[in-house]
Amino acid sequence: MKLAILSRSPGAYSTARLKSAALERGHECRVLNTLRFAIDLSGEEPDMQFRGKQLSDYDAVLPRIGASVTYFGTAVVRQFEQMDVYTPNTANGIANSRDKLRATQILSRHEIGMPATTFVRDKADVLSAIDLVGGAPVVIKLLEGTQGIGVILAPDKKVAEAIIETLQSTKQNVLIQQFIAESKGRDIRALVVGDRVVGAMRRTAQGDEFRSNVHRGGSVEAVELDAEYERTAVRAAQIMGLRVAGVDMLEGNDGPLVMEVNSSPGLEGIERATGLDIAGAIIDHIDNQVAFPELDVRQRLTVSTGYGVAELHIPEGSKFVGQTIDDSGLRELDITILTLHRDRSVIPNPKTTRALQADDRLTCFGKLEEMRGMIPTRRKRRDKVRKLPKEVLEANSEA
Ligand SMILES: Nc1ncnc2c1ncn2[C@@H]1O[C@H](COP(=O)(O)OP(=O)(O)O)[C@@H](O)[C@H]1O
Ligand SMILES: [Mg+2]
Repeated sequence: MKLAILSRSPGAYSTARLKSAALERGHECRVLNTLRFAIDLSGEEPDMQFRGKQLSDYDAVLPRIGASVTYFGTAVVRQFEQMDVYTPNTANGIANSRDKLRATQILSRHEIGMPATTFVRDKADVLSAIDLVGGAPVVIKLLEGTQGIGVILAPDKKVAEAIIETLQSTKQNVLIQQFIAESKGRDIRALVVGDRVVGAMRRTAQGDEFRSNVHRGGSVEAVELDAEYERTAVRAAQIMGLRVAGVDMLEGNDGPLVMEVNSSPGLEGIERATGLDIAGAIIDHIDNQVAFPELDVRQRLTVSTGYGVAELHIPEGSKFVGQTIDDSGLRELDITILTLHRDRSVIPNPKTTRALQADDRLTCFGKLEEMRGMIPTRRKRRDKVRKLPKEVLEANSEA
């Protein structure tokens, strides 16, 4: 294949390793400076120029977009998507993972463990927001920080309030997060490629520092992840729309707590710690997937007027319970079932001989008018299950 690595630093360890892994495998590979593209919407089809010349044909692109160029960088990746060039990480995925609040919001409905988090704007709401995540000590984070910069541990509420006020007065948005003390300055970085973890390491902060980032002096060691950590990392990356990702997890008392999902994970620490050829695994994955450029299913499927994608719910007592898909008559109504969600598993292209059960959710494509009556009333909010330990909740409720 012919691969373009989008990067501004051809000499950096990760870029150099990816390029040599591609060349070793007999691929053609160029490192292209993300900022030298011109997005060209002047012709009949989406196109791009590079350094003032028409871009040649590429089979795949591997974006390594730095935080300082997210807007332009994701625009370039989006343009490759429009041109049907395969990318393991979509523009949307990169943008979503870049913003810690946005990432937490997207992950929050998928039963993935995360530290309790809040986000407020008005000064008057800061103290109750701190209580909501369990009180001090509390972690304060800039939405777009990296390498541990912009992550602060505030020992008490007064200090937390002062820090938040100061940051907000300089127009910086911050989120407020429960401090996971039991993680003790350690965290897990899992490198996800496709639908598996290809390498993992534990990072341990230096001295009394609580941030374990390698850039903050953290040390690394290889770890063998247990199944729960592995599944959590893969799901988090997939939900974010990333096929190459570094998922950071704290080791909470009740299992993994995802802090962030990085779309351009550094390879140096993890390759040194594990001795594994992570760059090679990334290149092999891209080579395998090249035939399947990312497409926005909704956009493609809803171009016919009156047709669309909807999620249908089979409630307890519905006439569909116990019927096979064949017997349900959905096909006669021009409704095709794309996936069936049952408990936590997803069954793609379910066989028509499969029987439906109460509480199944069906992602369907079909005539919107026919599906309207089968769309569930808006999901009720469940009784809140708080993430905080009982002692903390009790102390809070007395305040
Ligand atoms: N809620 C938390 N509780 C305990 N430690 C945390 C928490 N959030 C972050 N940390 C520590 O700070 C480090 C940096 O936080 P992270 O959210 O990953 O920001 P960055 O994008 O700057 O790496 C983490 O690797 C972890 O060691
Ligand atoms: Mg991090």
